[in-house]
Amino acid sequence: MKNYEEVLKKYNQEHLLKYIDNLDEKKKKELLKEIENIDFEKIEELYKISKRDKDKAIKGIIIEHIPFTDKYKLDEETFDRLTKVGENVIKNGKYAVVTMAGGQGTRLGHNGPKGTFMLDVKPRSKYLFEILAENIQRENKKYNVILPWYIMTSTENNAKTISFFEENNYFGYPKENIMFFCQENLPLLSEDGKLMIDENYNIKLASDGNGSIYKSMKKEGVLADMKKRGIEWIFIGAVDNAILNMCDPILLGLTIEEKNEIASKSVVKANPHERVGVFCKKDNKPAVIEYTELPDQLAEETDEEGELLYGESHIMCNLYSIKALEIIADKNLPYHSAYKKASYIDIDGNLIKPDTPNAYKYEEFIFDGFNYFENITILRGKREEDFAPIKNKEGIDSPETAIKLYNDFWKL
Ligand code: UTP
Repeated sequence: MKNYEEVLKKYNQEHLLKYIDNLDEKKKKELLKEIENIDFEKIEELYKISKRDKDKAIKGIIIEHIPFTDKYKLDEETFDRLTKVGENVIKNGKYAVVTMAGGQGTRLGHNGPKGTFMLDVKPRSKYLFEILAENIQRENKKYNVILPWYIMTSTENNAKTISFFEENNYFGYPKENIMFFCQENLPLLSEDGKLMIDENYNIKLASDGNGSIYKSMKKEGVLADMKKRGIEWIFIGAVDNAILNMCDPILLGLTIEEKNEIASKSVVKANPHERVGVFCKKDNKPAVIEYTELPDQLAEETDEEGELLYGESHIMCNLYSIKALEIIADKNLPYHSAYKKASYIDIDGNLIKPDTPNAYKYEEFIFDGFNYFENITILRGKREEDFAPIKNKEGIDSPETAIKLYNDFWKL
């Protein structure tokens, strides 16, 4: 790359020249190669997202309530009928599960992939990946199948994730039915829009959000593999929910009866201002609105029975037909900007490990895929049966709260 100086100057990234100057020939070549592959126009567009006024995100968009079904208000006959419809799909080998494990888990601060975090549950401590493996194996036994299990990693944690499974003998899961695939990265930007340098003197990158799962599944051959196996319905869930139910036949049965291609499990918000995204219609299409974007008045609005009109939280329990995944895989989802902590090498060569957020990370969100459909099936479950998130080191949604939910759920 001959004119890298010009390019860097053009895009206000000339601070990188100082790093380049201090590198040996080999490292210099490596960094220049990375710079050559950067789409600087895209970087500029991404930075604009960080500086955009949050309130403007929903300006001019019509937000409306979206209907849902309460699993525990179904009559017995419907409950049984839907169970049968869903169970038939699972028993006939048309069902697969996917775990999103490409996140950085910055809030938890665990050293390693989040799935390798050990939760001190009863009767013995278990890794998050182990809990998921046990859950799927329980379903395999129940339905006499072996569900194909796809695990999305990121370049940052892919090797560690795979070796962790190997070291733990795949937790007894038939190895040939676990498939790992990797999502992509985007550069992080400093507060003033500068590219950052990591410990190895490479451009500081991070996984590009759980919404990139759709295109990664296509690119990495996951969709093709599913089709080869005759999979028709796919559950996609997060790695950090200790009581994640990946096989709810009611969710499947209801989606099929409602003739929808996408579905999601929800739990009702703990209070109107809980920091979760909720389901709604945006311009008449299924969507999730983030708590930061939901105006207070809508957050508190109730129906005639006193139920919150925007009370169904998106808990990352999503179901798709294979057709739906193929449709979304070809779309460009919007990017969102998050302000996170990121270590980096400063201009004097010091490794900086910040205590407070210092970098913009750009992510696609899984729920932005809902927008391409007219309808979605939403099934309200129960928090104590469906949702034990591990997000923070302590306090709300921490290992402590998840351990309690796990032990209570399994009556331990
Ligand atoms: P979160 O958005 O809560 O992010 O992920 P996180 O990485 O776990 O934690 P923080 O925000 O850095 O503290 C929800 C789910 O989406 C996955 C995560 O692994 C988790 O299962 N995810 C997130 C990805 O697979 N890739 C990503 O780029 C981001």
